[in-house]
Amino acid sequence: MKQDNRIEWQETLCVEQHPGPFQMVIFGASGDLSRRKLFPSLLALYQRGLLAEQTRILGCGRQSFTDESFRAHLAEGLSGEPPAQVKAFLSLVFYHAVDYAQADAYQSLARRLEDLDTCQRTCLPRLYYLAVPATLYPDITRELHSAGLLHEADAKSWRHVVFEKPFGFDLAGAKQLDQSLRQYLHEKQIYRIDHYLGKETVQNIFLLRFANVIFEPIWNAHYIDNIQITAAEAIGVENRAGYFDQAGILRDMFQNHMLEMLSLVAMECPSTFAADAVRDEKVKLLRSIRPLLPTAGTAGIVRGQYDGYRREPGVPAESQTETYAALRLYIDNMRWKGVPFYLRAGKKLARKNTAINVVFKHVPHSIFPNIPAKALQQDVLHLRIQPAEGMGLTLQAKMAGPKLCMGAMTLNYNYLDSGEKPLDAYARLLLDCSLVDQTLFIRSDIILAAWELYQPVLDWWENQPQDSPLLTYAPGGNGPAQADALLATDGRQWV
Ligand code: BG6
Repeated sequence: MKQDNRIEWQETLCVEQHPGPFQMVIFGASGDLSRRKLFPSLLALYQRGLLAEQTRILGCGRQSFTDESFRAHLAEGLSGEPPAQVKAFLSLVFYHAVDYAQADAYQSLARRLEDLDTCQRTCLPRLYYLAVPATLYPDITRELHSAGLLHEADAKSWRHVVFEKPFGFDLAGAKQLDQSLRQYLHEKQIYRIDHYLGKETVQNIFLLRFANVIFEPIWNAHYIDNIQITAAEAIGVENRAGYFDQAGILRDMFQNHMLEMLSLVAMECPSTFAADAVRDEKVKLLRSIRPLLPTAGTAGIVRGQYDGYRREPGVPAESQTETYAALRLYIDNMRWKGVPFYLRAGKKLARKNTAINVVFKHVPHSIFPNIPAKALQQDVLHLRIQPAEGMGLTLQAKMAGPKLCMGAMTLNYNYLDSGEKPLDAYARLLLDCSLVDQTLFIRSDIILAAWELYQPVLDWWENQPQDSPLLTYAPGGNGPAQADALLATDGRQWV
């Protein structure tokens, strides 16, 4: 038996295969997302032998680069990695300038892709990644279609398109975008990214719930008192005021990441771990959430803005955009009837902390003299999404010593203790794209169900702002005190 805190992994069972070669076209290749996430993630896959040698990556954008100057540009951002590996990886990377608005540009792109086909124009499947502003999605998709670049000659030569969030700005916009893409693509070709689903700790929710026998019997309203989901960030709006001030935290974090985490924690067990089976359960769950308005009323939703937000570069002096929100919601189904789910997310808070805490009920009766059941602490399952990725279970236990005293102790597992560096969420999702696995991507009905839930709140904030004051909170703290009051009125607190 080992004495330290490290985990001894026993047999490892993996459900995935190795991807074959493909062509990847990245629109917006010299932009921030490509530099910070996409190319480092592709390199990470290459280093793990998960990018076949015949794979070709074609960066596209308005800027003009040669293949060599583009590689040199990327190499700067990959300077922390072993140079020989970077060089070998970059030999798979090419560049082609594209003016997105010009139909001719897509014809020339088609010719370039044919030239780069390492399977002599016969078979390579192709992934288009749209790392560009969402307003360009319809035009780029239409032009790809017109140039014949979305045509799938057979099942092996698939043509898939990855879309970054935001997928729509509101319910009507999301529907419209969906319709415009569907003119050219079917759902199996569309990969809508929510990078939270690529996080190891978010995928762990599936395994924890559905690969263990001990949780399912107690994963319901009989044993669980409440569930809390927090996504706190220490950073503010940084250099993204142009986007963020239009969006606000409800669109930026709740409509996607928070609801995805909620779905995984609360959904029913799918019949199999396959894309549509999983996504069917998610959408069923989202449709069981009780409408947030009018029943929740003002007390059920808190919105705030950090002090100093309006002085951030690019933020209007009168901005009414929320940088924090907290809300209580209920899921009206057999499993969760009456269990509150508390969600909060915000910027400029004390520290980065994304976590799901499952708070269990008190024991129904205490056999311990002088200690009523309610005085015993509630057990809590902590799913630490980031940082300190891992999980813990806080239980009551006997404390060492001659007297019968009890206290809370936590069983802990940290991912870093496994010795394996976690793969970045984007690397994981790009791997799934190459494996043609949509399980961790958002289906259209899920996006629309999420917008249906939040649209009334967005409308209410816009049309009746006097009913839902925008609370100012101090940077570096815990957000508005009213978010604590949200739980306190229910006799609870954030754990
Ligand atoms: C993005 C949001 O989707 O997620 C950002 O647009 C937010 O505003 C980010 O900072 C948080 O992601 P992570 O992985 O750092 O928790």
